[in-house]
Amino acid sequence: MTEFDLVIRGGTVATASDVFAADVGIANGLIVALGRDLGVARQEIDARGRLVLPGGVDTHCHIEEPPAGKVRNADTFSSATASAAAGGTTTVIPFCMQEKGGVITPSLRDYHRKAEQAMIDYSFHLIITDPSDAALAELPGLIEEGHRSLKIFLTYDNMVLDDAETLKVLALARRCGALVCIHAENHAAIAFLTEALERAGLTQPKYHAWAKPVAVEREACHRVISLAELVDTPIHIFHVSGVEPAEEIRRAQQRGLKVFAETCPQYLMLTADDLDKPGFEGAKFLCSPAPRTQADKEALWGFLRDGTLSVFSSDHAPNRFDDRHGKKVEGEDAPFSVVPNGVPGLETRLPILFSEGVSSGRIDLPNFVALSATNPARLFGLHPRKGAIAVGADADIAIWNPDRKVKIRNANLHHQVDYTVYEDVEVTGWPEITLSRGEIVCWEGEIVGHPGRGRFVPRAPYEHIAPTGRFVTPFDPVSGRTVKGS
Ligand code: URP
Ligand code: ZN
Ligand code: ZN
Repeated sequence: MTEFDLVIRGGTVATASDVFAADVGIANGLIVALGRDLGVARQEIDARGRLVLPGGVDTHCHIEEPPAGKVRNADTFSSATASAAAGGTTTVIPFCMQEKGGVITPSLRDYHRKAEQAMIDYSFHLIITDPSDAALAELPGLIEEGHRSLKIFLTYDNMVLDDAETLKVLALARRCGALVCIHAENHAAIAFLTEALERAGLTQPKYHAWAKPVAVEREACHRVISLAELVDTPIHIFHVSGVEPAEEIRRAQQRGLKVFAETCPQYLMLTADDLDKPGFEGAKFLCSPAPRTQADKEALWGFLRDGTLSVFSSDHAPNRFDDRHGKKVEGEDAPFSVVPNGVPGLETRLPILFSEGVSSGRIDLPNFVALSATNPARLFGLHPRKGAIAVGADADIAIWNPDRKVKIRNANLHHQVDYTVYEDVEVTGWPEITLSRGEIVCWEGEIVGHPGRGRFVPRAPYEHIAPTGRFVTPFDPVSGRTVKGS
């Protein structure tokens, strides 16, 4: 009798805690058995000499966002999710952005419609650009529908929230059960430094890093941690770039606050010197926060190992380089302040972490699985359905050849961006086969899944978003009640 739709046979399975030899039995899109010598299956994959890992969960990526002026995202849900799958990722959480001055629901319906072309499963963070009464009135219903994470920016002209607005969002998240993610940089300081640099005629891409020194990130991290502490709301800090902000986060965690944080490949691989390439080339590397120093790059590994930074995301930003809708939107001599921010990275996220982390001996395999899949799934309420190799989990699996050497070339990637910041970087370890809910979606670099097979994953309340119950005074400003034991 055929018991399984598919058996992955003879591989080495790794989870966030263990590494063991096992076959993986799959039926109806789920993992239904783990063990030696599993019985017959309709289809088999020979995984001898391969690692069988949970498909990656990328909880910070920008996909098919609406045009901002003349700037257009190069990727669609179809191309971005194909690229993610080719890089071993099986779930993404991109963003639905509230239009400034508008409400959220129409944008969200639009995102859901666009995401119908996704090849792998997805959920959404809701970006709050304007916590008006109307927007705040919509949020409880949208959170209840399963959009259990909000994102706010402490910088960027058209998105920045001040402290009062930030507190409003944090308080609402606590009331409704949602995690608030933060882009933490000090807006006024950046504006001040940018203006001074421009007055001095220092406008090339390299001055982006001078306009956004680490102090602007460290200050914003400290501030938002303090605001979250006042209302006892868990937060997640996006794209931590170096030692000083990471130390703020570690201190908060040591004080028992629910402060979570991520970093991204660009902060392990780039420094501010990469912005200082001839001509306009440095614009390819321009992202926020800015890449830091060699010492920051190296130190971030320690924060990844000790759990200060528990998530590794791509922050994929699909701006083309040679295109009047991307980095060159204002031309090749444009000042850094008008160059679209961000670097592409959905497909290279995991090969970079595997190669620089596992193959280079900086992290072990369970740590890789935790950072790339299990922790993000847990933090965003997708676990144990996603981010796990366990009986009952979705059969979202990446089969890796740990010894395969690949020279990264943009021409071989599946996104629609015309460059990668990792051109010619050689990595050791590559995902050769990716399965989403038991279906092969990428086989040896060839996309075999079809757009539209991805599904929205709604998220129910979960442990990470529960408050700590600790207040800085004997008064809880969210419930309006006097509390004991503070
Ligand atoms: O430079 C970046 N990170 N661009 C993408 C948007 C954001 O700030 O996350
Ligand atoms: Zn950001
Ligand atoms: Zn981002």
